[in-house]
Amino acid sequence: MNALRFPDDFVWGAATSAYQVEGATTEDGRGVSVWDTFAAVPGNVKDGDTGDPGADQYHRYPEDIELIADLGLSSYRFSIAWPRIQPTGSGKPNQKGIDFYRRLVEGLVERGIRPMATLFHWDLPQELQDRGGWENRDTAARFADYAEIMFDALHIRDWLTINEPKTVVDCGYRFGSHAPGFEDDARAFVACHHLLLAHGLATRISHERHPGRRIGPALNLHPTYPVDDTQEARQAARLQDGVENRLYLDPIFKGFYPEDTLRWISERSPMRDHILEGDLATISEPIDILGVQYYTPIYVNGDMERVHVHPRAQAEWLEIYPEGFYDILVRLKTDYPGVPLVITENGLPTTDEPGPDDRVRDVGRIEYLRDHLSAMHRAMKEGAQVEGYHVWSLLDNFEWAEGYSQRFGIVYVDYSTQRRIPKDSALWYRDVVKSGELR
Ligand code: FCB
Repeated sequence: MNALRFPDDFVWGAATSAYQVEGATTEDGRGVSVWDTFAAVPGNVKDGDTGDPGADQYHRYPEDIELIADLGLSSYRFSIAWPRIQPTGSGKPNQKGIDFYRRLVEGLVERGIRPMATLFHWDLPQELQDRGGWENRDTAARFADYAEIMFDALHIRDWLTINEPKTVVDCGYRFGSHAPGFEDDARAFVACHHLLLAHGLATRISHERHPGRRIGPALNLHPTYPVDDTQEARQAARLQDGVENRLYLDPIFKGFYPEDTLRWISERSPMRDHILEGDLATISEPIDILGVQYYTPIYVNGDMERVHVHPRAQAEWLEIYPEGFYDILVRLKTDYPGVPLVITENGLPTTDEPGPDDRVRDVGRIEYLRDHLSAMHRAMKEGAQVEGYHVWSLLDNFEWAEGYSQRFGIVYVDYSTQRRIPKDSALWYRDVVKSGELR
């Protein structure tokens, strides 16, 4: 392969989220989140793992900043734990929580690393859940208050509102595998509307209070394909695309929910009744960046059942298909043009452990990253407006229901000592970043 050159100003980064890496879940006034509650119930998370110790980033952030700088990265995407800022989800902010993120942001900036903050990466304050969580419209208003506190507290140019609203809807409310652990389509899509409303409210506040900054959602987009050429499968794939992608992209970019998806939802949920006058105008407040997270394609049969077609990673939902990354980026250019794209997550778990020489030879991850970066490069050549890429993840961390059993990091974490060991993929990535070229 000829070397593929990336633009000189291309932003290279890595991503994490608060509950997955911070640990310290009871320190400095942090309130309880839905993930603390969910993980405490036996059977919900593999091996009974919880967000403690995570990768202990709450204490080790100076070391992690050095690590990011050593890898030559120019951006670090992290999330803010709402319960550290407002322990009960509303009211006066907890100064110690704000101070933590101030120190993190200052440390990054000092090392020439751009902070990119996600406001909500799933750790809803438990007290808000007790009042109905995302099914309760008021949670969107509470989110807007919290967002305003953070916008004023941190000097950051690039913000992300909600991480993967779809995963909250699907895993949290439909399939029960994530907090809050419901299996109820009726409630799920009501929550969906309020998550989108929360996104819109926060986006608007950012624009009003801090013009010149950039804000957008972080959406996990799944190219959907029919498993065969039958008309049934093709129709099912189109509907699946609605539930996976258009349900989120259309209201944000175009100010309406896709009709076919709404019909499908109406058979399952009273979501429509919760869409009030003006909501779609709020949700479609123009965004300045779109966070794109790509992991897997979704193939469906004529009954809209998922069929696995490509080789899978240790995470069984993750089919390795770099071409899907290309497809989704090119599709965004055509169907949702005009907004710069930042890849906010892409990666896979591997089981590689340190050898006697302390090296972690994660060749599978290098191959995955190379193939995905190459697909992204091709999409960029064809006009996809991608300005940056963040690998998921900087560090091995708490992978939700899989606990610590799935390691997505380019840096290995020994959870008993919290020692960090850059894996071979981290060293490989450092070379790509340094040269700006993929060989
Ligand atoms: C995404 C999440 C992220 C991480 C990866 C593997 O859905 O946003 O926190 O768990 O998957």
